[in-house]
Amino acid sequence: MYAVIFGKNPRLSEAEFYAFIRRFNLRVRIIEASRNWVVFESSKKIEHLFRRLGGSLKLVRIVGEGETAIKELEYARFFTVSLYGREDWKLWRRLGSGIKRAFKAEGPSKFFKPARVYSMPSELILKGFPEVGDFVFLFREDGSFLVGETIRITDPFELKKLDVERPVQRPMLSIPPRLARIMVNLTEVPQGNFLDPFCGIGTIVQEFVLQGLNAYGSDSNPKAVHGAKENLKWLKKEFRTKRSARFEVCDARKLKKCFRVKFDAIVTEPYLGEPLKHNPSKGEAVGMANRLDRFYFSVFDSFSDVIKRKGVVVFVFPAYRLRGGGIYRKDRKWLEKLGFEVLGRYTDFEERHRLVRDIHVLGYRV
Ligand SMILES: C[S@@+](CC[C@H](N)C(=O)[O-])C[C@H]1O[C@@H](n2cnc3c(N)ncnc32)[C@H](O)[C@@H]1O
Repeated sequence: MYAVIFGKNPRLSEAEFYAFIRRFNLRVRIIEASRNWVVFESSKKIEHLFRRLGGSLKLVRIVGEGETAIKELEYARFFTVSLYGREDWKLWRRLGSGIKRAFKAEGPSKFFKPARVYSMPSELILKGFPEVGDFVFLFREDGSFLVGETIRITDPFELKKLDVERPVQRPMLSIPPRLARIMVNLTEVPQGNFLDPFCGIGTIVQEFVLQGLNAYGSDSNPKAVHGAKENLKWLKKEFRTKRSARFEVCDARKLKKCFRVKFDAIVTEPYLGEPLKHNPSKGEAVGMANRLDRFYFSVFDSFSDVIKRKGVVVFVFPAYRLRGGGIYRKDRKWLEKLGFEVLGRYTDFEERHRLVRDIHVLGYRV
């Protein structure tokens, strides 16, 4: 039995997890789910594939339920304890001491207690103590809990490297590599031709290449395309990828002029409007969304020229954090008219941002 611990946007991580299961045809039986984790039975394949999830933190092997399950944990000379669903310092120490006592017969062990952290971040597990065990307690609302051990973590250093070490960077405009990975999984398309028609410096195309997909990118700005090519050269060297990507300078409203192939999936974060200087009123937000919609309509019209039947589009529309609180998300009836059915919709934002990403998963049904 396994558990996956979701990342900082649990709803999006959960959606990615279920899409991922379908994408890789994993046989999974869900046992229980909560806001921040899901417990399931599955084949060992999940252990190999786990690193390809962008939005989850840890893969945990569940050993049992309640305090008696502590006896089932495998001895580790150094260990730490992660609590999910409870923030209780005393409880945290008590469970750690319980593990130490249980290990005594096998040898001495040391319990790391980083100050005021109830769950061990992946960075620490990877960096500080490669030998350390991370024992996990998943608390249900009624106070009962499952016990397990972390067996895989998503590598935050790899994601960071993909972002900040590449030769060409545009911090304000680029999408985080973590989100690029999530969006590719949301397509549920395991293989085929993938396009990012607003590729910028190529973050999403990098992810296509890392995943061994047929990668295509385009942007109307030749400088961005040049940057994307430079970044791809770096990626090939640093990550030893065999595949490459094809880039074109192309207006996303005229894709059929630039590409002969048809795409199984289009994954993109387009132009999202001018940067916001303040949080808009509802009226201002509606105005901005309507002005951009004319552009997005032409873009989707162009998608219908180059996408395969039953192809999938994962697209970021802008939504807005309003001055008076709340978020404005526009509904776009014209998508259906062009043949794009909305299969899923998820928001993603950082606290400091005024713009919210309104991620749509769309199936082409014509
Ligand atoms: C938000 S950025 C994409 C960033 C990209 N995901 C990355 O990580 O670098 C939007 C991109 O759209 C491009 N763009 C704007 N209008 C376009 C159009 N009509 N056709 C194609 N690209 C366009 C811009 O040059 C810019 O690079």
